[in-house]
Amino acid sequence: MTSDLEGIDGLGFVLYRSTARPGLDGSDMQDILRSARSRNQSLGLTGCLHHEEGLFFQWLEGPAEGLRQVMALLTSDARHSRIEVLDSGALNHRRFQDWRMRFSDRDRASLMDWFARSDTATVHRGDYAGGVVAFMLGLEI
Ligand SMILES: Cc1cc2nc3c(=O)[nH]c(=O)nc-3n(C[C@H](O)[C@H](O)[C@H](O)COP(=O)(O)O)c2cc1C
Repeated sequence: MTSDLEGIDGLGFVLYRSTARPGLDGSDMQDILRSARSRNQSLGLTGCLHHEEGLFFQWLEGPAEGLRQVMALLTSDARHSRIEVLDSGALNHRRFQDWRMRFSDRDRASLMDWFARSDTATVHRGDYAGGVVAFMLGLEI
């Protein structure tokens, strides 16, 4: 897993997809969100985590140094594997400024259904990462 945060000293972002450990349950999710929200608050990170069909999608944004710290923790977390960075880089302004870690799952909204419904004007062909972010920004929670 590599994310392109080298050389960024201001705001950055990472969007990744990973495979959830089979059998992860609601109390595992609560644990993940508890540590995410508390550390993200202290590091000034915000973002969104979506869980569906055994996959995690997470957008994380904030000071690049904090992002690097959390990505290092995430990489060695056995609750998920096959972390694949979909996009990363510098950011002019936050997209999830009110959220220490917004969370949604299949019961609230389906990314897969959203992709199936989206027309090409919303999701440009091949812009998978852009589609995931648009879905996360449009969640009504
Ligand atoms: C899908 C997923 C998303 C996570 N997101 C975050 C996060 O945004 N911030 C964070 O600090 N930890 C996150 N974690 C947890 C870290 O991998 C790590 O377990 C945790 O930060 C350790 O914190 P603790 O000291 O509270 O135990 C996530 C874990 C998983 C499996």
